[in-house]
Amino acid sequence: MKEVAMYLRNAWYVAAWSDEVDDRPVGRVILGEPVVFYRNMERSIVALEDACSHRKLPLSMGVVAGNHLRCGYHGLEFGSDGACRHAPGLSRTPPNACVKSYPVEERYGLIWIWMGPADLANADTIIPIAHYDDPVWGINRGPAMDVNCSYLYMTDNLLDPSHVTYVHKTSLGNVATADVPVKMSVLENGVLASRWMLDCELAPFFIPYVGFTGRADRLQHYEVRYPSHAIIRDIIAPANSGAPQGNLHPSVFLMDSYNFVTPVTENTCRYFWFQVRNFRPDCTVTSRALTNDFIAAFNEDLVVLAAVDRGMANKRTPITDIETDAAPLRFRRVLKKMIEAEQASQAILA
Ligand code: FES
Ligand SMILES: [Fe+2]
Repeated sequence: MKEVAMYLRNAWYVAAWSDEVDDRPVGRVILGEPVVFYRNMERSIVALEDACSHRKLPLSMGVVAGNHLRCGYHGLEFGSDGACRHAPGLSRTPPNACVKSYPVEERYGLIWIWMGPADLANADTIIPIAHYDDPVWGINRGPAMDVNCSYLYMTDNLLDPSHVTYVHKTSLGNVATADVPVKMSVLENGVLASRWMLDCELAPFFIPYVGFTGRADRLQHYEVRYPSHAIIRDIIAPANSGAPQGNLHPSVFLMDSYNFVTPVTENTCRYFWFQVRNFRPDCTVTSRALTNDFIAAFNEDLVVLAAVDRGMANKRTPITDIETDAAPLRFRRVLKKMIEAEQASQAILA
């Protein structure tokens, strides 16, 4: 029997950056399903199954026709609800011609899609972004990145502060980030792995951006929420200025990195990210530099994770789990239970 894919369907996933969908249909694969996106005449996003109900030509090979998406083979036109609205040259519109439609929402410059039953979609459950519109906080955005690994290796990585010492030794980490134990906290909607590193050298990545010199106290807060959305928070303050006790020095560096991982297939995913920061809010040079620095750092992860995916798929000997796997393994266990419960309830309804 074929194993059921391990995806949580009742969740909002990022499908694309808003500016990736304009006047032409855009085809994507999400949780193994082909989906096509287009904008209707009100500029609202529509998401439909990317396969015409006539001969399954991807509708992403068609064109946008007003509020409809027109198939590029025989011209059937589908509306935002997936129903066929126009059938050129036929005596009537085929009554059973329709494709699946998906709830979508645009927020934070991103297009979000709900992959479960439409009646369960509630846009209020999209992750809130603190400081997104805060005029004293800046923002930088990265391009969507294609990743050659299971989304679960990404969630492992985003719950693992320890890897920065080795994968990012010339950027986000350095030897100062080794040897400090990571603490796991179980959250209602995810898992947190965190640690304070006290009186340490600044990691090279942060030196151009931190508003003080000398040694630092640094928090690494690695939080992943189900199914695959991460908030990585860095607090970097002058050493011994009381940051771990909640006293934030005027020159404290605060940055929240939002990381949204969307499964494409079992061994590939798409990675969307941006950062908000408490300094130089309107400085486009800083924003551009941060984006470029994060692209370089994240590419270090992607090389490792693609190799891990291949290594795990082809392993010939047993694997070892280590203490720092506690948070990722906990996350995987709970997510698996959520997926199994969801699939069981769908099986009852079927
Ligand atoms: S395949 Fe789409 S109209 Fe024929
Ligand atoms: Fe990393």
